[in-house]
Amino acid sequence: MKPIGSVHDIPFGEGRTFSVDGRMIAVFRLRDGSIRALDAVCPHKGGPLADGQIDLKQVVCPLHLNAWDLATGCSLSGQKPVASYPVRIDDDLLFLEL
Ligand code: FES
Repeated sequence: MKPIGSVHDIPFGEGRTFSVDGRMIAVFRLRDGSIRALDAVCPHKGGPLADGQIDLKQVVCPLHLNAWDLATGCSLSGQKPVASYPVRIDDDLLFLEL
């Protein structure tokens, strides 16, 4: 796992995009404090998933409102899946494994 930034860079209930080894990764900080990471580019038409609305289960793309499971990356609305990545917090740093 490699450090990608501080957990404090992401407000509770929001996502932010990080560039990791040339890939754009959306990292989400859920309202319960847990962290999820998915590919940042929506597989529908390229929308920014980190800007989507989230709850504890799903992210909704801001462009056309398709939804993906935050834990698995599976689509909840009939689209292609997105990759999900292991991510953890250690001493306020985010560590991600591609
Ligand atoms: S670009 Fe994300 S739902 Fe269309």
